[in-house]
Amino acid sequence: MNDNDKELLAKSLAALQIPKTHVTVGLSNLIASNKDVRSLLIHRRLPDSGWSDHEIQWFLYTVATLDTNLKTPISSKIMTTSSNSSSVRWCGVGEREGRVYSNLVAQRHFGLSHGVGRSGDITEPQPKAVGSSVLAKLTLLMVMDGVRRGSGLHAQTAAAHGILLPLCTGMSMALVLSSLRESGATSCSNTKERDVVLWSRIDQKSCFKAVTAAGLTCVVVPTARNGDCVVTDMDAMCAAIKQYKGRVLAVITTTSCFAPRVPDSVDEVAKLCQEFDVCHVVNNAYGLQCAVTCKRINRACVVGRVDAVVCSTDKNFLVPVGGAIVMSPSDTVIHNIGTMYAGRASASPMVDLFITLLSMGLSGYKKLLEQRQVMLTTFPVRLNQVAEKYGERMLACPSNSISFGITVDGLARPRRRDEDENDYLQAVEKDISRFGAMLFSRCVSGTRIVPRCVTNTIGGQEFLGFGSSCDDYPHAYMTAACAIGVGPDEIDEFLVRLDKTFKEFKKKQ
Ligand SMILES: Cc1ncc(COP(=O)(O)O)c(C=O)c1O
Repeated sequence: MNDNDKELLAKSLAALQIPKTHVTVGLSNLIASNKDVRSLLIHRRLPDSGWSDHEIQWFLYTVATLDTNLKTPISSKIMTTSSNSSSVRWCGVGEREGRVYSNLVAQRHFGLSHGVGRSGDITEPQPKAVGSSVLAKLTLLMVMDGVRRGSGLHAQTAAAHGILLPLCTGMSMALVLSSLRESGATSCSNTKERDVVLWSRIDQKSCFKAVTAAGLTCVVVPTARNGDCVVTDMDAMCAAIKQYKGRVLAVITTTSCFAPRVPDSVDEVAKLCQEFDVCHVVNNAYGLQCAVTCKRINRACVVGRVDAVVCSTDKNFLVPVGGAIVMSPSDTVIHNIGTMYAGRASASPMVDLFITLLSMGLSGYKKLLEQRQVMLTTFPVRLNQVAEKYGERMLACPSNSISFGITVDGLARPRRRDEDENDYLQAVEKDISRFGAMLFSRCVSGTRIVPRCVTNTIGGQEFLGFGSSCDDYPHAYMTAACAIGVGPDEIDEFLVRLDKTFKEFKKKQ
């Protein structure tokens, strides 16, 4: 708004007999709001302070007016008998013209219905939808800024380039792998002939399935045990790379995981990948909240090879499920992922992230990270206190600062060991699983109860000791996470309910 606009507006308001002092105050609000928008468009980074809901909505509707076909929802048109053809500015005669039947749906999307990208590249601007394209670009720039200035991934390496995908972590991983194979990575040769992905075992199904979804073969690299921790087995990894030499497209490591699994030695694996000329993809599903993990990824990019880092938007930025941010030191890797995406993409996950980031601002995001850090100073100690009260103990996994485990071996009823080993193990599993069900019925969600010696088959592959990421973990255990967004009240209440559930369980036992 220039001085002439301001003067004109002030005069128009004064003509409505609004006192001059009131007009001045009102205009100053409008000017401040305009300044925020201008600053966002000029600096293209996460604002230091969050915006109000009102400002965000106003900006969203303004951006939506840049799109063509901003139509009256079809349901409203059916209600009216006469049509006024002179009110039609755009005549959409394609098969997909951003038509939306329901008013509720139109509102839910702030009038943005074209999606983002073009069928050949998810990052390409959509001619019919300048607003949606602007929003997609701004969201990416803001999230990259948040990841750099908030989480601490380096702008020169791990977070040099990025792309937003309207897909969960697993499907994003599948897309990344497909694109690495199809387009070749920066220095990998003959990638199209490579059909094997080495996966440092982590008992979570998404990434294992992602490899299959990409049409590749997953070779599970066993982990090793170090005290209570389940860690990367570097010897096994090195042996697997050598065994499948010439066939290995990529190694997948994981940096955010359930205890007692601890983040993979991404730096050591990165060196190995560099040495053997294979791609390295990091599953950092919810690791952006952990400064130590981000440092480890930065280091991996410097000492070795990292092609892509895949992070969930919901688990890191508190938006509904269904988005991922993929980052890479290489522009080419990111570009190839964009062109591998088949079709136009839903803008929904980006709109959610856009709103959330503007609402948080950098200070809001940092506050969430700090709050988690504060909770970390007491959560493990208090969890251990409850465990010890019932003869259990905390699993010592200091390099996992998100997920914490306590043993629950004592929850199995004492039994005669002369019964059949399988029957015995099944009975113990049932006892221990009942504890999880009791917690859930007391409205505690998110804990994982992992009995010993459970076998699970995924995609034809058998996993012994499923849940603990190794064949023979010596304890049954329960995990709970101190993750971004959890509040002190929730933690307090969880510990009270855990205590009560232990007490009740033991009494029944
Ligand atoms: C290590 C790991 N990877 C991937 C996922 C799944 O993410 P998504 O459902 O977004 O694929 C999870 C979920 O908790 C996880 O722990």
